[in-house]
Amino acid sequence: MATRIPLISGNWKMHHNHFEALATVQKLSYLLGDDRNGRVEVSIHAPFTDLRSLQTSIEQDDMDISLGAQHCHWEDKGAFTGEVSPAMLAKLNVRYVIAGHSERREVFGETDEWVNNKVLAILRHGMTPILCCGETLDEREGDRTEDKVAGQVRAGLAGVSPEQVGALVLAYEPIWAIGTGRTATADDAQATCALVRGTVAEVAGAEAAAAVRVQYGGSVKPANAAELMGQPDIDGALVGGASLDADDFAKIVRGIDA
Ligand code: PGA
Repeated sequence: MATRIPLISGNWKMHHNHFEALATVQKLSYLLGDDRNGRVEVSIHAPFTDLRSLQTSIEQDDMDISLGAQHCHWEDKGAFTGEVSPAMLAKLNVRYVIAGHSERREVFGETDEWVNNKVLAILRHGMTPILCCGETLDEREGDRTEDKVAGQVRAGLAGVSPEQVGALVLAYEPIWAIGTGRTATADDAQATCALVRGTVAEVAGAEAAAAVRVQYGGSVKPANAAELMGQPDIDGALVGGASLDADDFAKIVRGIDA
């Protein structure tokens, strides 16, 4: 059985300018200390305008925090006003890039095909995608969770080799739980994360499925994080609101109940 080191990722969305970003990451690093012993990995997904400042600070102070991005285009360069290329992120030593977050899919119309293009481009530039999937409340109540989630996983991983699949990260985030204060029960979250892993086994084989890390996301807080992350198929969390505050995020990382 593969050892999967949990990854806890803070998705800041459109919050924190570069001054606020620096203060938050420095405080987080101080709170987490240096004694994590590889038991848990942490990434921070800041807005593009923060990345260069964060890179410098993380590298200068040798912080045990990985730099992450929230989105990118799939082309290396070109006439794509407003977009940022994976090559630009790689140049900043970005390690993890979120692909297909539900807010990108629902608000900006990202399709499964675009998300797959991004996953392939992120890998091509030596970074790790965090591929998101999740159902709406309507889909859940209409018993379509399985089809939606498995379909997004299959589409997102098209053309990715089994070795690459094993090294990437998937995030199951029920849309009805994002930013709403509603969290899936630990049993429901476990069941759908197991479905995600099962889908990986179908498309990339048992070895990749045993190695791939599956995060849960959707209103993860210090009070519920430990129970969620204690589930056998949940290998960390993608945290939005509670990652903006260094104290809360540090509590989640340390698995301390508030
Ligand atoms: P939330 O966001 O923790 O605020 O629900 C999670 C996410 O969107 O990644």
